[in-house]
Amino acid sequence: MKSYDPFSIKDLELKNRIVMPPMCMYSAPDSVPTDFHYLHYCARALGGVGLIIVEATGVLPEGRISDNDLGLWRDDQIPPLAKLVKMVHDQGAKIGIQLNHAGRKCGAAAKRIYGPSALNYSDDGRYQDPAEMTEEDIAHVTDAFASAAGRALEAGFDVVEIHGAHGYLLSQFLSPLSNVRKDSYGGSPSNRSRLLREVTDGVRSRWPENKPLFLRVSASDYSDGGVTPEGMAEMLKESLEGLDVVHVSSGGVTPVPPPVYPGYQISFAELIKKECFVPTIAVGLISTIEMVEEILGNQRADLVALGRELLRNPFFPLMEARRMGVELPWPEQYKRAFSR
Ligand SMILES: Cc1cc2nc3c(=O)[nH]c(=O)nc-3n(C[C@H](O)[C@H](O)[C@H](O)COP(=O)(O)O)c2cc1C
Repeated sequence: MKSYDPFSIKDLELKNRIVMPPMCMYSAPDSVPTDFHYLHYCARALGGVGLIIVEATGVLPEGRISDNDLGLWRDDQIPPLAKLVKMVHDQGAKIGIQLNHAGRKCGAAAKRIYGPSALNYSDDGRYQDPAEMTEEDIAHVTDAFASAAGRALEAGFDVVEIHGAHGYLLSQFLSPLSNVRKDSYGGSPSNRSRLLREVTDGVRSRWPENKPLFLRVSASDYSDGGVTPEGMAEMLKESLEGLDVVHVSSGGVTPVPPPVYPGYQISFAELIKKECFVPTIAVGLISTIEMVEEILGNQRADLVALGRELLRNPFFPLMEARRMGVELPWPEQYKRAFSR
């Protein structure tokens, strides 16, 4: 079964192709992992997942989605994350971290929030009105992503994932619905993707070449005039320098909910893989090992992420392997789980 085949890219070797995607737990009041986080991530490592990508982690305090997000804007945030990395490694999984700036969707306490343009995400009063970012703001954010990547390296992470999806700051720049700038960061697809390239370059200056760098994107805004999968593939073609894997999601730039059904984003991952010649991760309502096999067997993506399924069932990878007759080593301590 392909699901349990290894995957390697740069110096990263995964024992299988099942990924836990980033999922905010909104449980870090001091911006560092709590006991809950250690248990939560280690449970999935014990359950046999190949790669865990830690939840959206703010590169700046005003870049958080909520007051309870993890953060990496200070050096004292490194040791608690280094502890998490070691604990997950000790249980046999690899671990990455998603670096994020929420932009106009900052729901944390902040004096001033900002985005590509002075356009609120919604008119329900959920978010402050954002300021249009100045060139100094842009440089500040780029530096913050780079510094956070340096801290992620010190913490020992195997992967950094840049969050360019779900209507957060980089995604806001990529979409013409949230970016109406008149300068070199707005207008053409090439201009809208400029900040992404600058952030990637900044991150790469602190994140060594031998370590893979992932990017998560929203391949569709599901709205007229917004990003389409074909348009995203075009933007990526000129923005992939320094990036190794694209994690393909959708939605979040506007309050329009994605039309969901099992595997609703797989075709986007497939298109980007084929058009851009880049390994992709498929994600979105994938909840059976048969779906994972279909995606990998038909080369529609290289890795498959299961979010809510892994929340429900941390032992999905080991249990499904057993059900399918694939012999995998269980944690030594659990050897008697199947004895009479
Ligand atoms: C509780 C929860 C928190 C999430 N937080 C994040 C996040 O921090 N970053 C991100 O890119 N996506 C986030 N997502 C989206 C998931 O990574 C995933 O793309 C989505 O749940 C669809 O996959 P699934 O149907 O397998 O759950 C979150 C989803 C859930 C359910």
